[in-house]
Amino acid sequence: MTRVFSGIKPSGSVHLGNYLGALRNWAAMQDGADTVYCVVDLHALTVPQDPAELRASTLSLAQMLIAIGIDPERSTLFIQSHVSEHTECAWLMECTASFGELRRMTQFKDKSEKAKFVSGGLFTYPALQASDIILYDTDQVPVGEDQRQHIELTRDLAERFNNRYGQTFVVPEAVVPAAGARVMDLQNPENKMSKSEDSPQGSVSLLDDPAAIEKKFKRAVTDSDNEVHYDPATKPGVSNLLSILGAATGQSPTEAATGIERYGDLKVATAQAVIELLRPVQARYHELAADPAETSRLLAVGADKARTIARATLDRAHQNLGLLAP
Ligand code: TYM
Repeated sequence: MTRVFSGIKPSGSVHLGNYLGALRNWAAMQDGADTVYCVVDLHALTVPQDPAELRASTLSLAQMLIAIGIDPERSTLFIQSHVSEHTECAWLMECTASFGELRRMTQFKDKSEKAKFVSGGLFTYPALQASDIILYDTDQVPVGEDQRQHIELTRDLAERFNNRYGQTFVVPEAVVPAAGARVMDLQNPENKMSKSEDSPQGSVSLLDDPAAIEKKFKRAVTDSDNEVHYDPATKPGVSNLLSILGAATGQSPTEAATGIERYGDLKVATAQAVIELLRPVQARYHELAADPAETSRLLAVGADKARTIARATLDRAHQNLGLLAP
């Protein structure tokens, strides 16, 4: 059976880009594959975190994953720091990656240019991400467009390790959705949608209420030529709205434009589609949020299942590397 793995960081609120680019696919892939999903709390530590906030957002994100349809009975759902094999394997991947390879990662370049304090972890982050993936003999990794380069690196590292030490890791491939793979910021449509703290009006949180969603779409940046058609190069704002509307209603962006003449109508239609898409997710989330003990129980079961798979892979890697068995 195909093994699927993916992860999401518990920093800031989960947004529409996460949902359309990745999470929706996570839920869909549960049919017909063996799916393993992880809240990657250790990846959030590349920048200093408030401990209480980190703890709360990790639990809340796990609840959101269940709310969007990740079924802990069908999928292995767990928290990265609960399975210490991830950090153990990260060292093996750091020793497999070259300095130049890590330096070329665009996410590292972008983030390190902006940050005042650049941690060592920000630099080695993709080695931990590679470990997350290869520990589960992963065939497919559902992600948004921005993660493609990290998955390519994971492939290179797995192949290099296999060439040096014999067949050890499965070489995974990225699965990027046809629609919604790169949702842009509503205020700066040249930038991808990111955490709401960075762009409060440009990012739609999965927990925004209908009034907030409507307001954000009404204020979305468009352009001045008043023509509703899809052309990301010259009309980034309008094209982003069409992509979101299409992704939310199961159409291509061009199909989504059919019958819409005015920007105001496009904004209202997109807001309505997103509100309807999120309505059941939000209802389910609020139910789950009322019972944190049950979520913790489910996550402990998930960590046990994950550890069994990860340990076997890591033992195989140790053996092939020539580490002396204890
Ligand atoms: P993260 O937490 O930033 O994002 C989680 C997922 O959401 C996708 N995404 C988007 N898709 C479309 N439009 C956007 N504007 C948008 N913003 C985010 C991301 O592509 C991602 O799929 N490094 C990863 C987390 C990670 C991981 C892994 C992923 C750690 N280990 C192993 C896959 C496999 C990250 O920071 O994603």
